[in-house]
Amino acid sequence: MYLGDEQMSFITTKLKDLNEHQQQNILQGTRLVTRFRFDVNQVIKHIRSKIWGQDDVLRRLEEMLNIIWADITETDRPLYVALFLGPTGVGKTEIVRALSEAIHGNREAYCRIDMNTLAQEHYTAALTGAPPGYVGSKEGNSLFEKEKIEGSYSKPGIVLFDELEKANDQVIYSLLNVMDNGLLVMTSGEKVINFRNTMIFMTSNIGSKEIMSYADGGFKYTFRKLLWFLQPSNWRKSEEDFLHSVVLSQLEKRFSPEFINRFDDIFVFQWLKQDVLEHILDTNIQALNHRIKKYNCQLQLEQTARKYLIEEGFDKRYGARFLKRTIRKYIEVPLASQIGQRSQEESPILFVAKMQNGKLHLLETKDPKSSIETEPLSKETKQLLDR
Ligand SMILES: Nc1ncnc2c1ncn2[C@@H]1O[C@H](COP(=O)(O)OP(=O)(O)O)[C@@H](O)[C@H]1O
Ligand SMILES: [Mg+2]
Repeated sequence: MYLGDEQMSFITTKLKDLNEHQQQNILQGTRLVTRFRFDVNQVIKHIRSKIWGQDDVLRRLEEMLNIIWADITETDRPLYVALFLGPTGVGKTEIVRALSEAIHGNREAYCRIDMNTLAQEHYTAALTGAPPGYVGSKEGNSLFEKEKIEGSYSKPGIVLFDELEKANDQVIYSLLNVMDNGLLVMTSGEKVINFRNTMIFMTSNIGSKEIMSYADGGFKYTFRKLLWFLQPSNWRKSEEDFLHSVVLSQLEKRFSPEFINRFDDIFVFQWLKQDVLEHILDTNIQALNHRIKKYNCQLQLEQTARKYLIEEGFDKRYGARFLKRTIRKYIEVPLASQIGQRSQEESPILFVAKMQNGKLHLLETKDPKSSIETEPLSKETKQLLDR
């Protein structure tokens, strides 16, 4: 029997309702009932499967999700407002994407607001009072995707304000209101955007220069660290606490105390450590292997090549982005040219990346197997391929 699209979608909705209802019954029988329909453990498990390192942030996020799920946060402000500081390419945006995927089933289900764009005059005008007919006074709305921001009855909305340091003072003032009472009043069209069911994340690279110069062993910060640790109140503290204080003092130079105090949490992300990069390298190579499968090719890294890529790709300044560029340069570029010379019918080939005379080479070996078997894709890699 053929069912029309309409009937199908009716049935799907009914099934979903039924599931929600069943879920609710189960929850009522065993646990506290809340309006929220997401499983904190699953959410955190998902995020941990995608983000390596950054344990402090994930631990705190788990605590926050528990509070949100229990529905005991204040009702007249956003569910959560966190600031992510630290170097680029270390997982700040990736955490928000993973959270959005875990809660809404889609990595892009969050609303990203680029402060660079928001700081443009006409957007600022839309927030803070555009003269009638002012060009772009309506455009301000388009940056804010209402549904993504407001979420739904059973799920929180997620917003990312990126590159906070680019925002001008008027925009910061509007944000202050959002953090305070969860409302953003757009002057054009009397539109109000409600952030009271929203988890807000903001990112900024404020302080990353200082973290880097500390990481590079700069004299100024080594000396400052010494002084800092000499203060009795800091005796029991860690290196992370010291970096936190350095970054915070930079933050205080740029933003007012009222603004800074309104964050529930301020995290200083650390640069990626070697072991984290190894995980990222593996995921990237696994993903590449799936992309080249259609040419009947596979790629393996010898230990020496892995070591070389990690060493070359290790740059505190650009985090994982630099590793990706390194893989492109040493693996993807030569691989593409070798693949380009092959014809369709050729037998399977295994490329082995190894070091010879201090250089990375891709050597072709005829694979004895008639067709190349690849390891089954992990869930994370599948998602990586979909990006
Ligand atoms: N801690 C991490 N764990 C796993 N992947 C990471 C991590 N940090 C960065 N990446 C990878 O690097 C890319 C860039 O990271 P992103 O989170 O966008 O950087 P930023 O910190 O500048 O927002 C991501 O798409 C992800 O693939
Ligand atoms: Mg980012």
